[in-house]
Amino acid sequence: MKLFLKLFLIVFIFLTACGKKESPALTSPDGSISVMVGAESGKIYYKVAKNGKAVLNKSFLGFVLKDNDFDKNITIKDIRHTSFSESWNQPWGEEASVKNDYNQMTVDVEEAGGMKRKFSVVFRVFDDGLGFRYEFPEQENLKDFVIMDELTEFALAGNHKSWSIPAYHTNYYEGLYRNMTLSELDTVSTPLTMETKDGLYLSIHEANLTDYAAMNLLPVGKASVLKTDLTPWSSGEKVMMKAPGVTPWRTLIIADKPGDLLLSRLMLNLNEPSKIEDTSWIKPGRYIGIWWGMHMEKYTWHQGPKHGATTANAKKYIDFASQHGFSGVLVEGWNDGWQNDWTKEGDKFSFTKAYSDFDIKEITKYAAMKNVKLVGHHETGGSTLNYEKQLDSAFAFYQRFGVNAVKTGYVSPLLDGKERHSSQYGVRHYRKVIETAAKYHIMIDNHEPVMPTGLQRTWPNLMTQEGVRGQEYDAWSADGGNPPDHTTIIPFTRGLAGPMDFTPGTFSFSNPVFPNTRVQTTLAKQLALSVIIYSPLQMASDMIENYENNPAFEFITSCPVNWGKTIVPDAKIGEYVTIARKDRNSENWYVGSITNADSRKLSLPLTFLDSGAKYKAKIFKDGKGAEYKTNPYPVEIEEIEVTSDKTIDLQLATSGGAAIIFTRL
Ligand code: NOJ
Repeated sequence: MKLFLKLFLIVFIFLTACGKKESPALTSPDGSISVMVGAESGKIYYKVAKNGKAVLNKSFLGFVLKDNDFDKNITIKDIRHTSFSESWNQPWGEEASVKNDYNQMTVDVEEAGGMKRKFSVVFRVFDDGLGFRYEFPEQENLKDFVIMDELTEFALAGNHKSWSIPAYHTNYYEGLYRNMTLSELDTVSTPLTMETKDGLYLSIHEANLTDYAAMNLLPVGKASVLKTDLTPWSSGEKVMMKAPGVTPWRTLIIADKPGDLLLSRLMLNLNEPSKIEDTSWIKPGRYIGIWWGMHMEKYTWHQGPKHGATTANAKKYIDFASQHGFSGVLVEGWNDGWQNDWTKEGDKFSFTKAYSDFDIKEITKYAAMKNVKLVGHHETGGSTLNYEKQLDSAFAFYQRFGVNAVKTGYVSPLLDGKERHSSQYGVRHYRKVIETAAKYHIMIDNHEPVMPTGLQRTWPNLMTQEGVRGQEYDAWSADGGNPPDHTTIIPFTRGLAGPMDFTPGTFSFSNPVFPNTRVQTTLAKQLALSVIIYSPLQMASDMIENYENNPAFEFITSCPVNWGKTIVPDAKIGEYVTIARKDRNSENWYVGSITNADSRKLSLPLTFLDSGAKYKAKIFKDGKGAEYKTNPYPVEIEEIEVTSDKTIDLQLATSGGAAIIFTRL
């Protein structure tokens, strides 16, 4: 290894002496992906290729600091290479064990004159893509500084087809993903997923967003060049930084198939190992909630004649959860503060004072008897200041009553009336909540979050997050609800950023409040979404009365939320997707398959099953005449015996689906 490094340095010094400013390539362990760095006119750049073909052309790097730029007059001082290989186990996730194999190149750069400030760019190349970040070492002329702009570019090698939501223009990332060519984009909130003419699938995002602003992208100059656009503070400043310090990793997944995007774990690998040693208290689970009833206006959040969070109602939900094997019951609107316009007056929320008709002591005692947990709720109305003041007492309060999971919420266009959710201000707040919750052994389901970046590896009590246009849009969205292709797109876009609290599982599509808005799927597709949309805490969305006596409910109650293995047998972004997952705690497999507004027939070869073994396949599929607009409810349940050499044909209705349980015999 030492000899290799020496040789490498000699080659590098030679190339530099010859006036060539480009490094030899850093390649992925399998040799397919290569990264080069170079310097040109005092600026540094990187390039990426797959199998010798450009994926990113010359893409420049650097910063504008408050006092001056940090992208000029820069020279490469040193380049160091290392390699790494490990497997690590996830306490929960889409598979039990994750491979983390990469080659690394650290490029040390320095200003040629003046203050001689320096930073390094560290590249890690995996077989399925790469990540790179800036590292600022301790130094004389750079201590506390303000980043006004990060200049990192992604010069894509073609005007690719892409899927993304715009930055800044959707609230809480709850937008519909647009299918546009790169030249049509205005702003982008990552993940940005692309399909190239050569049949590659790419996705740009970030990993380990810790004390920095979230990355958005802006097209600059030529059509396919995107530049980093960090979410600013209200002052216009982007990041308050200190040296030594590091930025988040900028990530690019490079895949041959859409399904491989979903199976890439490079974002998780670029986060640090768990800081929670004993993770035995972290328990994935499926729960129900006093929730859809509020969105259907059967109940109110605030106390009054229609109050949802009453002791009696909570007990009714707990009975139902216990009877059907749910681990928890979410109750929203139990605490003082909802009577105000809470999106504007979040500072009125108390997180320790229950409404008088909600006896938390009695409810949690009752729940414990029934082996069910209350899932807590902290809606802040965007007032992080009020929340932070109560943070310790709020989590201690829940812990005292045996609550081990809390859904947090930040409904308000700005935090504390001032700062964006995805700014460094927001990032700091969300992290504080995760770390404080961990102290009290509480899992977090973060609604209205900053876009996830894989922090659950480091803080595995960060279970799931919203940051997606979820099922609630089927309750009240003026455009009629989530369109049929929505769930065939989000696994390849928002889903790449981490678990999504989408809350599938609505069984009654009638909407007394907005009759023209409803779930735009068949019922079988609602079942399949339990497998398609990954979330270790997964809420079945509907009111309990809508599940009573429906045989299709069996799929929801038996579908696990923690997986030993995941594969994607077939997918086309925006059209259809089939996912197969193996239960972490048994030999059983679960499959979900969904389509957009087009009905279609898909084949499912069962090669993922153990060869030689027999399985009972219980198939929940679109029944006779099923069609999402006029006849969404028919579900046919069929049982057959299968082996791994069989293929099952799936006939999906318009916006339909199929959900299958494979029980090993
Ligand atoms: C928006 C959340 O997404 C939703 O689930 C919740 O019911 C409301 N805020 C109230 O907190």
